[in-house]
Amino acid sequence: MKKLLGIKSGIAVLMLSVMTCTACAQQNIQLPAPQTNGGLPLYDAMSKRQTSREFVNKDLSPQQLSNILWASYGFNREGKRTVPSSQNSQEYTIYVFTSKNVYVWDESTNTLEFFRAGDQRALTGPQDFVKNASVNLVYVANYNKIKGAEADKDVTAAVNCGFISQNVYLAAASEGLGTVVRGYVDKEKLSAYMQLPEFKKIMYAQSVGIVK
Ligand SMILES: Cc1cc2nc3c(=O)[nH]c(=O)nc-3n(C[C@H](O)[C@H](O)[C@H](O)COP(=O)(O)O)c2cc1C
Repeated sequence: MKKLLGIKSGIAVLMLSVMTCTACAQQNIQLPAPQTNGGLPLYDAMSKRQTSREFVNKDLSPQQLSNILWASYGFNREGKRTVPSSQNSQEYTIYVFTSKNVYVWDESTNTLEFFRAGDQRALTGPQDFVKNASVNLVYVANYNKIKGAEADKDVTAAVNCGFISQNVYLAAASEGLGTVVRGYVDKEKLSAYMQLPEFKKIMYAQSVGIVK
């Protein structure tokens, strides 16, 4: 009987720790404040900008991730960002696929808001290197926020996304990281996984990681 009780309490402790661990793994992550000055001089970063497709499967530091995200779409003055957007539509949301979970970046608090559990990096693109990139950023445009004629919205969203992507290229060069922007994404599959309504469209994904 004593032995049985011992086994039962052992199982209870195990279940409790698994539950606690799951809960802790699913928390939001507060990133450190981004380093918004310094880095590589701009012309040096432009000289180094290039696409990389060979990554070591290792996480970025929170500081590196914070810097990259700020460069991509952070605020650099009241209500305005590091990138321009047509008629100031600011229609993008950036999803961050990491080796642990999937998050939505809340740029006003610099928090990674927990979205889905687990390593889903491979879902963001069929190319083999994608699963090894430290993070895969997925750029989602909210078409309801884009101003102007309906017929122009695809172009507007694509151009606005280009600025985000180029900032990530330059920040990656400054951080000594590798990156590749990717149009080769199974958007139907990924949108279904992300449960995006029709007016929210995946424009591009971008892998950022430590180069082999
Ligand atoms: C709009 C766009 C979409 C791209 N899509 C992919 C892609 O799906 N997969 C990939 O490996 N590279 C992709 N690239 C990266 C290009 O292949 C790369 O920029 C090009 O070969 C030039 O190399 P560089 O960036 O090193 O100058 C894309 C680039 C752009 C601008």
